[in-house]
Amino acid sequence: MNIKQRLISAAQRRGTAFPRMLAFLVAIIVMTMVVTFFVMTLLINIFERKQEARNPFYRVVELDDTTEDPALWGKNFPQQYDAYLRTVDQIRTKYGGNEAVQRTPTNVDPRSVLARSRLESDPRLRKIWAGYAFAVDFREERGHAYMLDDQTYTERQRVVKQPGTCMHCHASVYVPYKKLGNGDLIKGFEKMNRMPYFEARKLVTHPVACIDCHDPKNMQLRITRPGFLEGIRVYRESQGIRNYDVNTMATRQEMRSFVCGQCHVEYYFKGQEKRLTYPWFKGLQADQILAYYDETGFKDWAHSETGAPMLKVQHPEFETWKQGIHSRAGVACADCHMPYKRVGALKISDHHVSSPLLPGNITNACQTCHRVPESELKARAEAIQDRVFEMRNVAMDALVEFIGEIKAARIAGATDNQLMVPGKLQRKAQFLLDFVESENSMGFHAPQESERLLFLSLNYTRQGQKAIRALGLALPAPTFGAMPAMLSSMEKR
Ligand code: HEC
Ligand code: HEC
Ligand code: HEC
Ligand code: HEC
Ligand code: HEC
Repeated sequence: MNIKQRLISAAQRRGTAFPRMLAFLVAIIVMTMVVTFFVMTLLINIFERKQEARNPFYRVVELDDTTEDPALWGKNFPQQYDAYLRTVDQIRTKYGGNEAVQRTPTNVDPRSVLARSRLESDPRLRKIWAGYAFAVDFREERGHAYMLDDQTYTERQRVVKQPGTCMHCHASVYVPYKKLGNGDLIKGFEKMNRMPYFEARKLVTHPVACIDCHDPKNMQLRITRPGFLEGIRVYRESQGIRNYDVNTMATRQEMRSFVCGQCHVEYYFKGQEKRLTYPWFKGLQADQILAYYDETGFKDWAHSETGAPMLKVQHPEFETWKQGIHSRAGVACADCHMPYKRVGALKISDHHVSSPLLPGNITNACQTCHRVPESELKARAEAIQDRVFEMRNVAMDALVEFIGEIKAARIAGATDNQLMVPGKLQRKAQFLLDFVESENSMGFHAPQESERLLFLSLNYTRQGQKAIRALGLALPAPTFGAMPAMLSSMEKR
């Protein structure tokens, strides 16, 4: 082919190629447009979802640091508010939840439904708390909606003059404390502690409310309870960390437990000013707490049958959880008791705070981490609880027997001085047992730690019984094994 022919044929080829090229280009442009459109749509969608998840509310009302009424917060956050209202539900599980008991309202106590009495379920409790208000009225705890009424109307208010300190964990106290302290939270707290209960009661309106856990500006979690602000500081100090400020130094995941630790803890009222104090100066473990009480010489009451200087433990969920594998693995109270649930594009926290073992809860509460069937998870949790319950019963039978022996020794003429050592051992044995008894998960939060405490308790009882025998008094023959009446109370739970 010569040059000329080649040029002609190239021109011919270009002639037919050009329209084809054009079609190809147009196709590419169209395709690019389509792909771009879909990518953009997807990105916008993801972005919107993220925005929704981050800022899942429409400001219907302006909230500020004095907005106490949860119904107002509920206008901005209807999902969380609806669930919060559902804490009135009363359903029981094998060891938790709670059972509703109907009653006829009276002028003194207008409640028509109560939670079941724990004293009736287990009469041994009356024995170990003899002479203390808890032997008069002690019930299963129920949902947050009831906290203020249950505290106001418990029989324990009638047998003892309680201080305003009680309010700290049973009402929305943030705004009332600040008012009382002229803007100073701690001053208000100190003032209310010193008031008689029923005077303080007039200053509060709601059970725990949104403002107690959330900053109204940005909805971030925050600690509002002076007891915890101070308690966590002394605990950190026991670990060598100085000037710990929980609201600026805690991680978000820690806060998901700390907000609950504001109330679900062991506490006592310190001194004449009845200052609410969390006894964490040596650490959070039961024996460290007991060592602190022993050192300060604090007692809640003198046992009416033995005269021993006793301590009453109250709901140490936070301290117990801290000893367990879940806490160690970074699992927070909120992960199990306020798990995320999906509502459309939103992932929200279930504000119906309750037992994770209730029907329907295990999926959100446990299966996010444990890929095993619901029935198997429930069985695993109950296997832990069954074992702890059995050990608790054995330790309690032994303690009740020991109390009977101290009493018999007293009747047989033992002096106060002779009963000092057995009394101290009763105090220790009972404190460690009560730590497990009054903790509300029946060992689930920290199985091995709970078992260790029951084991130590049993050992103190054994030493106490030996100390009684060493007095050489003529005492009735000891009984062996669990008492039949006690065994039947085991069956009832
Ligand atoms: C790994 C999951 C998990 C974590 C984390 C956890 N809990 Fe629990 N909690 C449970 C289970 C399971 C029970 C037993 C419920 C039952 O027996 O119905 C329970 C029981 C309770 C109860 C008694 C509930 C009832 O219905 O009687 C309270 C109160 C409680 N936990 C508070 C807390 C607090 C406070 C924290 C954090 C300091 C915490 N829990 C951490 C799983 C958890
Ligand atoms: C540090 C926080 C805190 C303080 C202070 C506190 N409570 Fe409670 N209270 C709780 C928690 C948490 C529960 C639920 C767990 C339980 O019942 O074991 C509860 C449960 C109760 C209940 C229902 C169960 C029962 O025991 O019958 C009553 C009644 C009650 N408290 C009365 C009082 C009285 C009276 C005072 C003052 C002497 C008081 N509380 C002080 C945290 C507290
Ligand atoms: C202001 C104190 C306070 C705070 C904060 C608090 N609780 Fe409670 N909680 C109580 C009291 C008091 C009760 C018992 C109310 C009653 O029996 O009337 C209770 C009851 C419960 C129950 C038993 C519910 C039932 O239906 O049996 C669970 C579970 C529980 N709380 C878990 C939590 C978790 C998890 C947190 C943190 C997200 C938390 N609580 C924060 C004081 C508090
Ligand atoms: C006992 C403490 C407590 C109380 C009371 C409480 N919340 Fe929460 N709330 C939480 C926790 C824990 C989270 C999870 C926060 C996180 O993971 O950072 C949360 C999260 C939220 C969020 C963020 C979105 C979500 O669901 O995770 C909103 C909104 C919210 N709460 C609204 C409310 C409202 C409204 C009220 C009152 C009706 C309320 N809360 C009462 C503990 C509480
Ligand atoms: C955020 C994750 C997470 C959640 C939610 C969670 N767990 Fe766990 N669970 C763990 C981890 C981590 C361990 C430690 C063992 C391991 O590393 O596999 C564990 C251990 C256990 C164990 C063994 C305990 C022991 O002492 O050996 C049981 C039983 C258990 N979980 C039950 C539950 C139940 C029931 C729930 C719901 C109420 C639950 N878990 C919720 C992460 C979780």
